[in-house]
Amino acid sequence: MSKKMLERVLSARRAAQFSEEGDEDDESKTRKHISFATRATNYLTRTGYLWPCLFLCLGVLLVSSLIIHSRNSVCISSSSDPISRMRFFGFDELESDFGSLGVPWCRSKHGRTVEWTSKDLLKGLEEFVPIYETRPIKNNMYGMGFDHSFGLWFITKWLKPDLMIESGAFKGHSTWVLRQAMPDKPIVSLSPRHPEKYLKKGPAYVDGNCTYFAGKDFVDFGSVDWGSVMKKHGITDLSQVLIFFDDHQNELKRLKQALKAGFRHLVFEDNYDTGTGDHYSFRQICDQFYIRGGGHSCFKDSDEARIRSRRKKFWEKAVDIDELCGPGEVWWGVRGQMRDDFNHSNKVISYGEHIQNSRFVESVLDVYWELPPVAGPSLTHQMRYDPARTPSPIVEDGRFGLFQRLGLTRLETSVFNGYTQMVYLQISEQDS
Ligand SMILES: C[S@@+](CC[C@H](N)C(=O)[O-])C[C@H]1O[C@@H](n2cnc3c(N)ncnc32)[C@H](O)[C@@H]1O
Repeated sequence: MSKKMLERVLSARRAAQFSEEGDEDDESKTRKHISFATRATNYLTRTGYLWPCLFLCLGVLLVSSLIIHSRNSVCISSSSDPISRMRFFGFDELESDFGSLGVPWCRSKHGRTVEWTSKDLLKGLEEFVPIYETRPIKNNMYGMGFDHSFGLWFITKWLKPDLMIESGAFKGHSTWVLRQAMPDKPIVSLSPRHPEKYLKKGPAYVDGNCTYFAGKDFVDFGSVDWGSVMKKHGITDLSQVLIFFDDHQNELKRLKQALKAGFRHLVFEDNYDTGTGDHYSFRQICDQFYIRGGGHSCFKDSDEARIRSRRKKFWEKAVDIDELCGPGEVWWGVRGQMRDDFNHSNKVISYGEHIQNSRFVESVLDVYWELPPVAGPSLTHQMRYDPARTPSPIVEDGRFGLFQRLGLTRLETSVFNGYTQMVYLQISEQDS
């Protein structure tokens, strides 16, 4: 070994020693400590107090270890505290947990992405929290919660459409969100039951500048004469129209209908993950082996199977390999099914068809962007979506100060429970 190399090895060893034992100051502290301990022992032996002191110290040690132990047991058994549950199951490093089982992302034709940044999202959150607090429908069970309300508001406010169309209104919460983003622009809302019907039972929202194709006037999105609706609203440029789908229909079917009509900006509320949900979604369509984070193995002894079965124990929407894979190892869509219309229809498709669907989607996509969850589960206490299949949140775990500054601590925990990867698609202009 050359002298230089030897020197480097020795100095590296010295550095390792220092980092294990602390710096020089700490070493001297240790030395002082030892000499103090020795002196104290000598003194106690001389005065005859050594044994009573030792018994006292032992007693103190025993009681304090019992207290610490009982605290730990309380934490572990407290299933209502999600963080304790996460730790119990060995998920201490929450940040790195996000996306650990893959986050498939549809490829756009030219690799373009959205213009907004995480800083814009944070600024948006600060603005939106007080707006959300004034929502007329406080309990929107079966409708959108906070994450997607924010996503829809943010995307709409950013794109500034001249006309907004929504399919699936329920009590009207999403109509209200669209209205907050664009106070003066018209809305067209399609829903089999008119939101005014819900007013009889409790809070609902009916908008004054909205054309409702609802109740007896209901027409499905795919059957509307969009040419005449656009004419009526004086819309000549279809790239100024934003469509919001929350109607639980096959998203591939909706994409084809939107393409036919010439629309270019689409938001889908429930972009369900593979193996979950009641309709075929873009997340499912783009979950392909050739996509980063995509594809699955139905092999029971695989790492994926082991991790999934562990995670299913505490993330409500997580699916294990038995749920993910149907007979014949079919995993795409939901166990090889392309679901539609709240799962009233569930057609079995081959893997070849599934690949074809994703190739078709890629061929018309300019932008694909999934809304991240607003905040990490240690902050929101949500237990439904599995972070392992989710992009990193806007406010990451551990950033309680920021979570509080944004006003998010003022919201009830339940409003964070509905995240399903809302997605924004920009479709390329089609040749007419
Ligand atoms: C999940 S809810 C919508 C929630 C609403 N966007 C919100 O945030 O409060 C789904 C709605 O879609 C409606 N729906 C069912 N089939 C539909 C269709 N073919 N077109 C439009 N809406 C439909 C249902 O009646 C229901 O009101």
